[in-house]
Formats: sequence, structure tokens, C-alpha cells
Amino acid sequence: MPTAPVQLEIFAQHHIADMLDWFPTAAALTQWGGPGLRFPLDATQLEEMQASTSGNEPARWVFSGIVDGNLAGHAQVALDWENGVGRLGRVAINPRLRGLGLAHPFLQCIIERFFADPIFERLELNVYTFNTAAIRTYLKLGFVEEGVRRSSARVGDVRWDTAIYGMLRSDLSAKSLPQNGSPT
Ligand SMILES: CC(C)(COP(=O)(O)OP(=O)(O)OC[C@H]1O[C@@H](n2cnc3c(N)ncnc32)[C@H](O)[C@@H]1OP(=O)(O)O)[C@@H](O)C(=O)NCCC(=O)NCCS
Repeated sequence: MPTAPVQLEIFAQHHIADMLDWFPTAAALTQWGGPGLRFPLDATQLEEMQASTSGNEPARWVFSGIVDGNLAGHAQVALDWENGVGRLGRVAINPRLRGLGLAHPFLQCIIERFFADPIFERLELNVYTFNTAAIRTYLKLGFVEEGVRRSSARVGDVRWDTAIYGMLRSDLSAKSLPQNGSPT
């Protein structure tokens, strides 16, 4: 059982090996990363993701969640600098640490980091509609369901529906108000 809070770190080369056994089937890999990945997850694919974090306006941020010095979580934010929009994705908790509610504090750190940059107004995400653990986490964080792209992913012989969730900077201000709506 973890004893320390989740620390947010930039995803680093030495985190790669710790993630390679997190997705034991092609379906589990797709559930995490979408249909564009090759099973099994390998260092090359993670290095390609990490390579897109360079530059002044990187294509993505890639984060690790660390608990008690161990890799507990992974998440990415694809960045649209022109429109001030980020897409949270590839969220995972280390399978040995699932069921402990760690995704919530880990993602809360990422949301705060994202909206700390005044250029960003909207954070969105895609999630397969059967993924109850993820959806409960996103709803608790304040994401709002915006619609469902039916039959949008092919996974072997079946097709999955994808729900779209979003959070606006103005949603955050509303959330920080007390229950009766009056300012503190
Ligand atoms: C989604 C994920 C990150 C959540 O991690 P976690 O913090 O360990 O989540 P928990 O297991 O603590 O569950 C979060 C919530 O979902 C609920 N939940 C978990 N599994 C559930 C299930 N099978 N059915 C219904 N509810 C479930 C928990 O009770 C909890 O609800 P609560 O906050 O209201 O108590 C983790 O399951 C994961 O890494 N999954 C594989 C990768 C993935 O699917 N990523 C999401 C891509 S969009």
C-alpha cells in the first residue's frame, strides 16, 4: 500500500522499462492508448512519445506519477497551442497499484499544471464508454460528458464507442465557489 502522496514528474527514460508490462493484451493496450499503437508496448513507441515533448511549444507533455519512489502512473496531454486546447490521454495507473484511487490525485496535479498556463482554456479527453473506473475518475475531477462517437474504434472483431469529456477554465472557477454560490 502506498504511504506517500503522488508526486508529478516529467516522464523520463528510466521510467520506460517499468511500464512495459502494464498492458498484457492488445485490447488493454488499445484501452489505454487508442487503436494507433502496436502490441506489445515497447520502448521504441514510448521513446517516440517522449520525443514529441521537445521545443518551446511541444506537441505533448508526458508525465509520471511517483509514489514512494516507484512509478505509479503515466499520462499525456496533447497540446493545441493555437486554440489553447489540451487533450488528456494515455492515462494509466501501474496495475499493481490500481483500485486505490491514485488516478484522481495524479490527474488533479496535471489539471492544475495545465491551467497554470494562461494560454490554455480547454482540456478534453476521449474514453471508451465501458471504462467505468476511468469515467468515474474523470467525473469526480469535474470533466463533463459532451457526447459519444458511436462505433469509433475497431478492436479485433468488435467496435467500441468513444465518449468525449471536456473541462473549461471557467468550469474550474465555478468549482472553486462554495456550495451556495457566493464568493469566499
Ligand atoms: C482508469 C484507471 C487509471 C483508474 O485508476 P485507479 O485510480 O486505480 O482507479 P480506481 O480503481 O481506484 O477506481 C476509480 C473509481 O472507479 C470505480 N471502479 C473501479 N473499477 C470499477 C468497475 N469495474 N466497475 C465500476 N466502478 C469501478 C472505483 O470504485 C472508483 O470509484 P469511486 O472514486 O467513486 O470510489 C486505471 O484503472 C487504469 O490504469 N486502467 C487501465 C488504463 C485505462 O483504461 N486508462 C484510461 C484511458 S481513458
